[in-house]
Amino acid sequence: MPRLKVGVLISGRGSNLQALIDAAADPTYPAEIATVISNRPDAVGLVRAASTGIPHHVVADLDRAAFAAATDRILGEAGVALVALAGFMRILDTAFVEAWADRMVNIHPSLLPAFPGLHPQRQALAAGVKFSGCTVHFVRAAVDTGPIIAQAVVPVEDGDGEDSLAARILAAEHRLYPLAVRLVAEKRLRIDGNRVLTAGAAAPGIAALNPTENLASNRS
Ligand code: GRF
Repeated sequence: MPRLKVGVLISGRGSNLQALIDAAADPTYPAEIATVISNRPDAVGLVRAASTGIPHHVVADLDRAAFAAATDRILGEAGVALVALAGFMRILDTAFVEAWADRMVNIHPSLLPAFPGLHPQRQALAAGVKFSGCTVHFVRAAVDTGPIIAQAVVPVEDGDGEDSLAARILAAEHRLYPLAVRLVAEKRLRIDGNRVLTAGAAAPGIAALNPTENLASNRS
């Protein structure tokens, strides 16, 4: 079966792009990275694409509609069937989002709908939650909204700052994004309103408590 062609949009480091590149290095993985587009010429992710021989483009310094038109043309020429936003920091043109509805996904480092937008790890710490995580979702016009495909949960530890929490979440992102793209590529997903139903999915049969119940005794 031909592999699903994915176009990845980035703005920076590109570690999630790398996770997708690494997953696609396995010939049995059902998707391939057909093209990478950055809105910033200095994005490290462009180097990752170059070193893997993936076509890559910079689309910068344009207004929103012009950016969308140029991006759409590159995606079309590459035969892209799924757009994956991976640390892409530009607001997309609404018509572009609508044109790619149900064919564009994003990863966000929180358990949406909690903590959308900027600094989600800072928001999580400020709110005092005991768990955070990451979310892959289909993209809708409002920032960080859309039907949720998959989520990963990580604990918040008492000693956490923004950086340590971000690192723990990022490690989960690198597992979650390849899984979510695989589910799309395998056509397992059905969007039902705000929910995404997954054929053959198995949810983990666990409830995690933070802190755990097996604390050392504190009685004197
Ligand atoms: C990730 O935390 C992603 O969830 C968020 O921006 C960050 C991008 O990191 N949208 P990278 O560029 O993939 O390393």
